Amino acid sequence: MKRIALIGCGAIGCEIAKFIDSAKIDAKLTIIFDLNYNTMNHLYTLLNSKPKMIKSVDDINEIDLVIEAASQDALREYAIKILEKYDLMAMSIGALLDEKLFNKIYETTLKYNTRLYLPTGAIAGIDAIKSVKALIDEIEIISTKHPNALKDALYVKMNNLDLTINKPKLIYEGYAKEAVRYFPANINVAATLSLVGVGASNTKVKIIADPNIHTNRHEIFVKGKFGEFMFRVDNIPSPANPKTSYLAILSAIECLRSICDDRIKIGT
Ligand SMILES: NC(=O)c1ccc[n+]([C@@H]2O[C@H](COP(=O)([O-])OP(=O)(O)OC[C@H]3O[C@@H](n4cnc5c(N)ncnc54)[C@H](O)[C@@H]3O)[C@@H](O)[C@H]2O)c1
Repeated sequence: MKRIALIGCGAIGCEIAKFIDSAKIDAKLTIIFDLNYNTMNHLYTLLNSKPKMIKSVDDINEIDLVIEAASQDALREYAIKILEKYDLMAMSIGALLDEKLFNKIYETTLKYNTRLYLPTGAIAGIDAIKSVKALIDEIEIISTKHPNALKDALYVKMNNLDLTINKPKLIYEGYAKEAVRYFPANINVAATLSLVGVGASNTKVKIIADPNIHTNRHEIFVKGKFGEFMFRVDNIPSPANPKTSYLAILSAIECLRSICDDRIKIGT
C-alpha cells in the first residue's frame, strides 16, 4: 500500500484526497499540508482516513509518494528536498520550465533513485506529441477562457488589460517560456507541451478571453514531417477554482491510479 502526503488542499488536492479516501486504490493518505490552515482543516473534516495535518514540508515522514497540488512556488521550493527521499507527483508544471531547476531535479532523481510523475493535465494528445517530437516543425496552443479565469493573471494586471468585453479578445501571443510566468495558474498545459515536445522557446501560445465561453478550451496544432495533428478539449472548469479544469483533476487521479497499479501500462 502506498502511503501518500498531499501538499495543497485546494480544488485539485481536495478531489485527489477524496478519491484516495474512497479506497478504490491501494493507497492511504497519511499526511496533508496547506499554507492555509482553514483549507487544510476543511479537507480534514471531509475525510474518513483522518490524515495528520502538518505545519511544514519538513514534517513529512514515513510515506512513499508526495503529491504537489499547490503552486509553482511550492514546487520550486519543495521539489528537491522531497525527491531526496520520496517519489513526487507534481501539478504545477510551469515551474519546471526553469532549466536549472529541471536539471537539478533530474540529477536528484538519479542520485536518490526517486521518480517525478507529471500528469497530462487539462489537455490531450501528449502521447502522440511525445512520439513525433524529433520531427515537429511547428507547435501551437491556443487557450480560450472566460475573463473571470484570467483577471488575476500577472500579465493582465501588469498591462492593466480591461476584460469587461462583449466579444472574444486575443490578450496574449508569445512563447511558453514567457507565458507560464505571466499566467502561472492558467497555462501549466503549455509547460507540459513544451516538456514533451520541442521546448518552451519553440512552443507558441495564444490566450483568448471570451465572455461567452463556459468551458476552458485548449486547441493544439502540431505540424511536421510525420503529418499534422489537431486536438481540442472543451473542459468544464472546477467549481472550486475556475482557472482549473475538471479534466486536470481527473488526469491527476488517473496518474495516481497508474502509479499505484503499474502492472499493465497502456499508452506510450
Ligand atoms: N498540470 C495541469 O494541467 C494543471 C491544471 C490546473 C491546475 N494546475 C496547477 O495545480 C496547482 C493546484 O491547482 P488548484 O486548482 O488545486 O489550486 P487552488 O488554488 O484551488 O489550491 C491550491 C492550494 O495550495 C495551497 N498552497 C499554495 N502554495 C502553497 C505552498 N507553498 N505550500 C503549501 N500549500 C500551498 C493554497 O493555500 C491552496 O489551498 C496550481 O499550481 C495550478 O496552477 C495544473
